[in-house]
Amino acid sequence: MLFDSHAHYDDKQFDADRDEILSSMRENNVGLIMNACSALEDIPVIENLCEKYDFIYGAAGVHPSDCAGLMESDMEIIKKACTKEKIKAVGEIGLDYFYGEPERSIQKKWFARQIELAVELGMPVIVHDREAHFDTIDLLKHSGDGKVTGVLHCFSGSREMAKEVLDMGMYIAFGGTLTFKNARRAVEAAEYVPLDRILLETDSPYLAPVPVRGKRNSSLYIHFVAEKLAEIKGLSVLDVEDATFENAKRCFGID
Ligand code: NI
Repeated sequence: MLFDSHAHYDDKQFDADRDEILSSMRENNVGLIMNACSALEDIPVIENLCEKYDFIYGAAGVHPSDCAGLMESDMEIIKKACTKEKIKAVGEIGLDYFYGEPERSIQKKWFARQIELAVELGMPVIVHDREAHFDTIDLLKHSGDGKVTGVLHCFSGSREMAKEVLDMGMYIAFGGTLTFKNARRAVEAAEYVPLDRILLETDSPYLAPVPVRGKRNSSLYIHFVAEKLAEIKGLSVLDVEDATFENAKRCFGID
């Protein structure tokens, strides 16, 4: 069975067939899904998905691109969501320098604040890092007393960065981008990271893997990522499935 450690089933792109697609997960070898959260208004939708489907777990947190209007009182909303039994992580939080805004100082402030919150709650984080590798590592190391746990999602860094993440005790998640033609750096990182520290993900509805690249993504395509990782590691697909499934459970504290 596969664990999709990062998907967004609250996204509008699933409005027409959300239930149909989620009902077909089990028969397609997808055992568990972590639904990441981008904005505060996603939280009730994610809580409903967690209630409706026993194989869906959720996160609560604010994505860097959505953090412009955040206020300190909003941290209470995340905190309250994190008391729910199936909310297992703070995220996705992080830094996104691809787009020029919100300005970096604002993104950094709320990334650091949400790391602190996660450490205070004893929960793992789900980290989004796009073209912000240096600051991402810096804030992970220096916020929350350096006690952060969790996963770097859709890893796009180098081997050297992977080493820093592993040294902090965190996990690294690979998704569809691992299958892309220009994925040399991700492939090198995947060669380097030990299997017991790797999670698989889709980031659905985004980043569909080859051979469905460009389509709307769903967890039904995560096997393409598992197959690619098996090829890179010289292992059977089943070994990759089992290991990454257990890793994700461990990372998110699911028994
Ligand atoms: Ni995401």
